Amino acid sequence: MFANDPRLRIPGPTPIPPRVQQAMLQPMIGHRSAQFSSIFESISERIKPVFGTKEDVFLVAGTGTSGLEMAVANTVNPEDEVIVIITGNFGERFAKIAKQYGAVIHTLEIPWGEACTAEQLQPLLQSHPKVKAVFATYCETSTGVLNPIESLAGAVRAQSDALFIVDAVSCLGAVPCEMDQWGLDIVVTGSQKAFMLPTGLCMIAVSDRAWKSIEQCHNPRFYLDLKAYKKNLAKNTTPYTPAISILFGLNEALSMMEEEGLDQIFKRHELMKNMCRSAIKALGLPLMTTDKDASPTVTSVYGTESFDCDELRGIMRKKYNTIIAGGQQHLTGKIIRIGHMGYSQPIEVISDIAILEMSLKQLNVDIPLGAGVKAAQEVLLNV
Ligand SMILES: Cc1ncc(COP(=O)(O)O)c(C=O)c1O
Repeated sequence: MFANDPRLRIPGPTPIPPRVQQAMLQPMIGHRSAQFSSIFESISERIKPVFGTKEDVFLVAGTGTSGLEMAVANTVNPEDEVIVIITGNFGERFAKIAKQYGAVIHTLEIPWGEACTAEQLQPLLQSHPKVKAVFATYCETSTGVLNPIESLAGAVRAQSDALFIVDAVSCLGAVPCEMDQWGLDIVVTGSQKAFMLPTGLCMIAVSDRAWKSIEQCHNPRFYLDLKAYKKNLAKNTTPYTPAISILFGLNEALSMMEEEGLDQIFKRHELMKNMCRSAIKALGLPLMTTDKDASPTVTSVYGTESFDCDELRGIMRKKYNTIIAGGQQHLTGKIIRIGHMGYSQPIEVISDIAILEMSLKQLNVDIPLGAGVKAAQEVLLNV
């Protein structure tokens, strides 16, 4: 196999298109130059449809977690009550950050592998009328669940004045997001997932309502102070030296997204999800989520008694140079996660499944060789 050309099929970082890679090789420029401001202005406008917003989107040098922390640090004062919806590892991360900032946290813990419904959220909103913010994860990457953000936002809006803050790190740009229409207040994402870029850029959109809380928030903050980013965005720049090369890449990635069209991108991800899930079903392996709750960006599959998940991943990596993810926390060694996000084509899902089948065979697992490939092909043929 081609040792220098791994097939990266994890839910982030994801492969980078050659066009984007090329764009990032441009000679460095100063961030206080007219050239930079012109690119920055263009990106700042063109990124808005991906969030479904007319509000400002801030581009911060940092990973997704810096955006999650920014969302908390700018809105939640110590002793403020917040609700954190936890559907897996990344919901837990939001709760940990809120705890660090001294919030009084009411968690809504949903079994890993399931999505949170508006009906589950409503009683908590009723019993805690003073909550300042509700935190949710759009795609819970640790389980492959896509939470129904629109209906959760509807529940928050109907019952409370709380801000609704969404971690969309592992799905924005692959699934619909109508921030303004759905009533989301802060939406955070990162560069290394559906945006097809290296890690290191965080994108965070902020509603008008959220600005009122931000102005009143007295947490100490400096690098993560959204007010500084807002002041500088008005001048088409950033307060501190931005991740210039990644912004060159983002400029190109947005062009690719515009050429394909957001609706088509969403369809492509939905198709890859359906192909992957049909294949796993045809192989008789247990999927971790229901069809209704499954994310179009990552598919989680339980191991069975007949194979060890980590051994399977090892064979896929060593023999076929194909990298898939394992489980996190208590799911370590218990599940595999196949990423199909960003620069990823439906046809690649067929080879992923072929490699999965061959690797399972190598572990003497009794699966019908080719059944998964056939199921995936049938889904693709019927488009
Ligand atoms: C849903 C979600 N939130 C947050 C993060 C954290 O992002 P980062 O690792 O870029 O800090 C990730 C990363 O995988 C994620 O999937």
